[in-house]
Amino acid sequence: MKVLLFGGSFDPPHRGHKALLEAGIALLAPARTLVLPTYLSPYKESHGAPGRDRLEMARLLAKGLPGASADAFELKRARRTYSYELVREARRRFPKAEIWYLVGSDSLATLGGWKRADELRRTAKWLVGERPGARAAKPAGFDVKRLPGRFPDVSSTELRAALYCGEEWRDRVPKRVARYVKKRRLYGLAHRDVLADTLSKDRYAHTLGVSKLAAELARIHGHDASAAALAGLLHDCGRRFDLAGMARYANARRLPVPERAATLSAAPLLAHAYIGADLAKREFGVKDPEVLGAIAHHTLGKPGMSAFERLLYIADIASADRGFPAAGRIRRLAKKDLDLAFLEAVRTKEHWVRETGEWLHPITPRVRRVAEKLCPR
Ligand SMILES: [Fe+2]
Ligand SMILES: [Fe+2]
Repeated sequence: MKVLLFGGSFDPPHRGHKALLEAGIALLAPARTLVLPTYLSPYKESHGAPGRDRLEMARLLAKGLPGASADAFELKRARRTYSYELVREARRRFPKAEIWYLVGSDSLATLGGWKRADELRRTAKWLVGERPGARAAKPAGFDVKRLPGRFPDVSSTELRAALYCGEEWRDRVPKRVARYVKKRRLYGLAHRDVLADTLSKDRYAHTLGVSKLAAELARIHGHDASAAALAGLLHDCGRRFDLAGMARYANARRLPVPERAATLSAAPLLAHAYIGADLAKREFGVKDPEVLGAIAHHTLGKPGMSAFERLLYIADIASADRGFPAAGRIRRLAKKDLDLAFLEAVRTKEHWVRETGEWLHPITPRVRRVAEKLCPR
């Protein structure tokens, strides 16, 4: 008797997962196949879907495949579980079975370095599907069987990013999963409903533009594209209030607006970024401190911003819906050099405030000086 294990975050499950699972079951004909969603930290989960939804989507992935079912073993443990622990659990449940593990060829390359690799060599066999561009050699001592053909390399991170910024995503997931995502309004669909209701049409369009550019810059510069797209989607959610409402909210919640009293009296609009971070946390359930920090600092910035925070600051000023000439320049620059683009963005903002005679927040020249230090001539 054979038992096949297939673990993953399934956040969401996609066509690549489905193709691999179907091919694995067809070749091996296991008596049982367990699809096991991994436990994710609540911080990471704030830009994905809750465990119960990932389990349900794993169920939909397994549906109709002979002997296959979703399994909540790791989710119930509520902590990170290593493969050797999954194999031990499978051996406990099916003591007479041969345990097989289904992976993509990208995992095969790292298998020798997995925790308790020696135990894994002895206790499991490996069924491997080749991903384009990831033809890996068999690690020494592992019992490996390769699946015929190649499997689509769909990325769940990119899928989530597409969902957040309103791009096409349905063709990358099995139909049942797509229906579930839509019904449960996962991956920002519920956020988008709220934003479309509470923001003006132009502001909502800007929001999606910032989300798209943030995801693109994240991809280029090695950040999580789904976190960036989520930050972009929510960055202006604080603009649902009028100016008096912003001042009231910021005071009532004692938000950390720099120079709060002066800011709220001279330029209350600047508070919308801090209100946005507060709403993102309390109303939209975002826990990731990077995302919350990027939303809070997207307008004024602060000295010592992280690269991720600067990325959103740039995406906000340079999104495709921005009409002024500097926006296009900053956008092009940002794809090559984030530090230079940030300096250009801060300078553009400061220049605009001085030109129009608006109130210049005292933090702005400080942010600009820090940006200048990042770009030595
Ligand atoms: Fe804003
Ligand atoms: Fe904005």
